[in-house]
Amino acid sequence: MKDYDFAVIGSGIAGLSFALKAAKHGSVVVITKRTGTDTNTAWAQGGIACVTSDEDSFELHVRDTLAAGAGLCNEAVVRTVVTEGPQRIRELAELGLQFDEREICGHRELDLGKEGGHSKRRVLHVRDATGKEIEDTLLRELSRQSNVELLENHTAVDLITAAKLGFATENRCLGVYVLDEKTGEVETIRSDRIVLATGGCGKVYLYTTNPDIATGDGVAMAWRAGVEIANMEFIQFHPTCLFHAEAKSFLISEAVRGEGGILRNHRGEDFMKRYDPRGSLAPRDIVARAIDAEIKRSGAKCVFLDITHKPPEFIRKRFPHIYQTCLRFGMDMSKQPIPVVPAAHYQCGGIKTDLNGATSLPGLYAIGEVACTGMHGANRLASNSLLEGLVVAHQAAAAAVQMRSAAKPKIALPEWQSGKVQDVDELVVIYHNWDEIRRLMWDYVGIVRTDKRLQRASARLRNLQREIREFYWNFKVSVDLLELRNLAAVAALIVDSALCRKESRGLHYTLDYPQANDEEFRRDTVLSRG
Ligand code: SIN
Repeated sequence: MKDYDFAVIGSGIAGLSFALKAAKHGSVVVITKRTGTDTNTAWAQGGIACVTSDEDSFELHVRDTLAAGAGLCNEAVVRTVVTEGPQRIRELAELGLQFDEREICGHRELDLGKEGGHSKRRVLHVRDATGKEIEDTLLRELSRQSNVELLENHTAVDLITAAKLGFATENRCLGVYVLDEKTGEVETIRSDRIVLATGGCGKVYLYTTNPDIATGDGVAMAWRAGVEIANMEFIQFHPTCLFHAEAKSFLISEAVRGEGGILRNHRGEDFMKRYDPRGSLAPRDIVARAIDAEIKRSGAKCVFLDITHKPPEFIRKRFPHIYQTCLRFGMDMSKQPIPVVPAAHYQCGGIKTDLNGATSLPGLYAIGEVACTGMHGANRLASNSLLEGLVVAHQAAAAAVQMRSAAKPKIALPEWQSGKVQDVDELVVIYHNWDEIRRLMWDYVGIVRTDKRLQRASARLRNLQREIREFYWNFKVSVDLLELRNLAAVAALIVDSALCRKESRGLHYTLDYPQANDEEFRRDTVLSRG
């Protein structure tokens, strides 16, 4: 058994920011499934929304966030994230991160991008690879810390709680079991401050902009530990994922539309004007539904994002990563429109927390995409999530440090028991179930829902969960099996939450209840086991 003052699971912006702050007060372990940079953060293109310009104000950023959130944001959380943002951004800059600047009338100022739903230009960015720069900056700083251990290729299996061990005392989180992929052994990590920063669950859908690690591990583990989970019906579909047979999960940033890109259908029409006066830069839920409708109506496979009216030098300089990637697939975006489709992008719900990342289980924190703080409500405003990750990580570190001084005596934890289990004999079963979940979620629990489709998905998922449970208890745990088990749990949570909400609001749109019903449903959907 290994002992740490703080154990962080996940190495994106939230996890690493927390770890750097906590390291000033004790030993920290950062547990991550693949390498440190295999995170959603590293894939973030657009940037960080933050008020830095004289033409902008905190009030406007709060107003835009609340409008996108469709009545479900927690205003106090939104205000704190927005107003604390600039200070947290300064800290990133002190670590060496340089956001893009531009020259205006002989002086340099931040080059601010624009995305859907923002009334002002306020998105700080580093070209079109902001997340990668942030990730590299934070990892470089982490490697300088003597009391932080980074465990790569380690997958969290389950949380260890007082209740699971049968203690009659107040329930709390005591540690976590972790699979070391190299040895195949499950290690016991003891810490009275466990932080879930595992990101989202895009891989639960057939098409996603997320990397392979996004399998909903944090939400699934918290759910199994009896922690409250909120608003899982609100899955954000990004309108523009590259449509190409060989391109897997490649996002075409909303910043392309922010710089004037226009969505066109297969006939070349600027169709978005028919759906919303804001056209191609309307909020994401509206754009994604409009594309879905165009595709279904016409039978076309995709729509097109056209920025060919901008100078090629501008496109190459502002979007080098997207430009080069499209070129690799044989498309020059300065000369031809990019084929795009919507894809699952962001989980707006998650483990229910307060502004300090505290969950309903003492000793367990959740930060970043895995958490539902109330910042995003029913629909996240673009580029607000990196900001939320930074600010809430700071708050959570301060809270966890404080609580540590009042921590209870440490309890000896049982080692993982693998019993007589054997290696998985038929990997095909895992892959088949994995594919089935992702396809049924796409077909039945996607951008437009109905009760009938949700009920079908629910019935099928219960069967799959039974099969997976059998597998889990009879065979040695592997990363694939753990991820499948987590995906199934999160898929069921999305379906159950969607079935609870008999209205349409934000990202949850159902043909059976196409209007919002404030009287009954202007509230969070909160589920907990039992
Ligand atoms: C994008 O670049 O379009 C993604 C930004 C975000 O999802 O916040």
